[in-house]
Amino acid sequence: MQRILFVCLGNICRSPTAEAVFRTRARQAGLGGIEVDSAGTGDWHIGAPPDPRAIMAAKARQYDLSDLRGRQVTVADFYAFSHIMAMDRQNLTALQALAPADSKAQLQLFLDYAGTNGAEVPDPYFGGTGGFDHVLDLIETASDGLITALRQPNS
Ligand code: 4NP
Repeated sequence: MQRILFVCLGNICRSPTAEAVFRTRARQAGLGGIEVDSAGTGDWHIGAPPDPRAIMAAKARQYDLSDLRGRQVTVADFYAFSHIMAMDRQNLTALQALAPADSKAQLQLFLDYAGTNGAEVPDPYFGGTGGFDHVLDLIETASDGLITALRQPNS
C-alpha cells in the first residue's frame, strides 16, 4: 500500500486540490492500493473547508473538494505515509525540520514529478482566480507523473 500526503501552507488551496486531483486521476488510471490525504504546515485553517475559489476551479474540471477539511501535518505523518509531497520550498523546509530522524517517508517537491526539477506550485491565496487554474494545470501534470512513477516496481 502506497500512502501519499500532499502538503502546502494552509491546506485550503493547493494540497486539497492535489489530494482530489491525484485521487481522481489515479482511480481513472486504474492504479489501486493507494491512499491519499493532505495537510498544512500552518494551523490557521484546521477544520475548515477548502477556499471557495479552489472548490470552484476544481469543480469546473470535475474534481470534488467540498468534503475535505483542513488539518495540520504531524510527526506521526512521517510514519503513516510512504510519500510526502511538498507544494513549495518553504513547505519542504518546514517538513524537513519536523521530520523525525527515523522517518522512512520519501519527502520531495511535488513538481519533481512534472519534469520541472525544483519548480514550485505557487501560492494562489492572495492572487486572483486565474492562479487557481494555473495551480490545477501544474497539479494535473505532476499527478500523472507520480502515477507513472508509482507503477514502477519499488517506487
Ligand atoms: P495553501 O494557500 O497553502 O495553498 O492552502 C494558503 C492558504 C491560506 C494562507 C496562506 C496560503 N494563509 O495565510 O492563511
